[in-house]
Amino acid sequence: MPDTKTFWDRIARKYAANPIKNVEGYNRTVERTRAHLSRDDRVLEVGCGSGTTALLLAPHVAHITASDISSEMTAIGAEKTADQKVTNAEFVCATPFDDAFPSAPFDAVLAFNFLHLTSDVSATLRRLGDLLKPGGVLISKTAAIGGAKQYLIRPLIAVMQLFGKAPSGLSYFTAKQLEAKMREAGFELVESDFHGDSRPFIVARKN
Ligand SMILES: C[S@@+](CC[C@H](N)C(=O)[O-])C[C@H]1O[C@@H](n2cnc3c(N)ncnc32)[C@H](O)[C@@H]1O
Repeated sequence: MPDTKTFWDRIARKYAANPIKNVEGYNRTVERTRAHLSRDDRVLEVGCGSGTTALLLAPHVAHITASDISSEMTAIGAEKTADQKVTNAEFVCATPFDDAFPSAPFDAVLAFNFLHLTSDVSATLRRLGDLLKPGGVLISKTAAIGGAKQYLIRPLIAVMQLFGKAPSGLSYFTAKQLEAKMREAGFELVESDFHGDSRPFIVARKN
């Protein structure tokens, strides 16, 4: 089974070339994210992938640091930054736990399609809280594959993991369980919604 970095490095170019599946839902997510950001904000994105969302949001904030464990993903992000002539975005190869963010604390942390990929969601949420200013917002949309449905999905994912076709260290939670973990990690819920699929979009403010 490949480690997390190797898994994402291997599929980075293919992932980056894939069209967005639910364009309407994605646009709604970008719109609601923008509603919680302002021109003065310094933003961190974790698990940014190839940077599509970071580069879309960059014109609406002061600066965005887009981070990812995969150096292949951040390399693609940096190429796109240069191609699109974006001057206020930087790509950093790092996990949220690395000491890689000298401009922390941030006004906002973005985590799209990320939290379910972390093996200890509570520890990750606490760390994201540490990277935020008091009153700063965590904006997440991620797969909620807990509850009863996990008993159908988990054996399938286990086989895929064995063959290197799914990442390791996944977490299984429902939207409500994720909300509870956010509260336990010191966040207050501001918005929780679904944008056309089963991944909860949650905005949470650091107390
Ligand atoms: C499903 S992709 C999502 C990419 C992007 N946020 C999006 O919504 O399209 C998950 C990303 O998280 C990154 N990732 C996975 N585990 C990570 C970790 N522990 N720390 C940082 N990045 C991680 C992967 O390299 C991958 O680029």
